[in-house]
Amino acid sequence: MISRNDLCWCDSGKKWKKCHFPVKGGSGPFQERAKKFLKQYGIVLKTPDQIEGIRRSCKLAANILDTLCHKAKAGVTTDELNTIAEELIAKAGAKAAPLGYGNPPFPKSICTSLNDVICHGIPDDRPLQEGDIMNIDVTCILGGYFGDCSKMVIIGQTTEEKKRVVDVSYECLMRSIAICKPGVLISEIGDVIEAVAKEHNCSVVNQFVGHGVGLQFHEAPQVPHHTNRIAIPLEEGMTFTIEPMINAGERGAEIDSTDQWTAYTVDRKPSAQWEHTILITATGHEILTKSSCGCSHH
Ligand code: MF3
Ligand code: CO
Ligand code: CO
Repeated sequence: MISRNDLCWCDSGKKWKKCHFPVKGGSGPFQERAKKFLKQYGIVLKTPDQIEGIRRSCKLAANILDTLCHKAKAGVTTDELNTIAEELIAKAGAKAAPLGYGNPPFPKSICTSLNDVICHGIPDDRPLQEGDIMNIDVTCILGGYFGDCSKMVIIGQTTEEKKRVVDVSYECLMRSIAICKPGVLISEIGDVIEAVAKEHNCSVVNQFVGHGVGLQFHEAPQVPHHTNRIAIPLEEGMTFTIEPMINAGERGAEIDSTDQWTAYTVDRKPSAQWEHTILITATGHEILTKSSCGCSHH
C-alpha cells in the first residue's frame, strides 16, 4: 500500500500526497488542474480509472485494426472487412462508434477510404484492386470508453505518388506524437506536421482535425494538423487523437453530395492518413492504440 509520503505511482517524482492523492470533495493538485482545464477549455482530464478503461478500448481497436489490415487483399470487398470488424467488436462485448453516428447517420461500422478519398469512406461491394491504397479507421466503445485509430494498407504494388503519401502521413503522425508532453502547445503539433509534409511536397488537409476522445467519440480539444494558433498546453491526463490527412496534390476536400460523408480530394490525387489515440503522461505521452502484432510496417 502506497502511503502519503511515498513517490507517486505516475513517475512524476513527486510525493503521492502532492500529486495524485485522491482528495474527497475535489481539492488537491489533480482536481484543481482538472477543474481549470474543464472551465477554461472544456477539456476533461481523465482520472486513473478512466485512463484504464480508455486503454482497454484502445487496445481492442488497435487489435481489430491489425486483423483488418491483414485481411485486406486484392479481391476482398470493404463490406467484407466491415463484417469482420462487426464480428470482432461484438465478440469483445464492444460497439462500433461509427455505426449510426452523426447526421445523416453513418451507415457502417468502420471507415474505408481508398485512393483519392481523404476520410469517412463507406464500406461497399467494390473488391480491392492491385495498386489501391486504403485507410481503415476503427473506433470501439468498450465499457463506455472510446478508442480510435486508423492505418493505411497498400494492395500489392502501387505508384510512387501513392507510396509517398502513405509514408509521409505516417511520418507526420509519428513525428508529431514524439513532441507530445505537458506544456507543449496544441499548435506545435500542426507545426511539425506541416513541416514534414512540406519537406516531401505534400499538403495537409485542414477541413478535418484530430480530437479529444475517451469518454465520448469527439471531445475538446480540436487538434488541427495544419498550422494554427491554438495555444492550449498539453496536460497530464489528456487523451486525444492525432490523425493527419496528407494529400499528394492540393489540400482541399469535397464531400460526396449523395452520401454526405465520403470526402474526396478536390484534384482527385491520392490522400493518406494514420491515426493514434494518445495519453499525455507526467513526463511525456503513451500511444494507447499502439499495435501489438509486431509486423514490419508500422
Ligand atoms: N474515426 C473517425 C475519426 O477519426 C471518425 C469517423 S466519423 C464516422 O474521428 F461517422 F464515420 F464514424
Ligand atoms: Co479520430
Ligand atoms: Co478514427
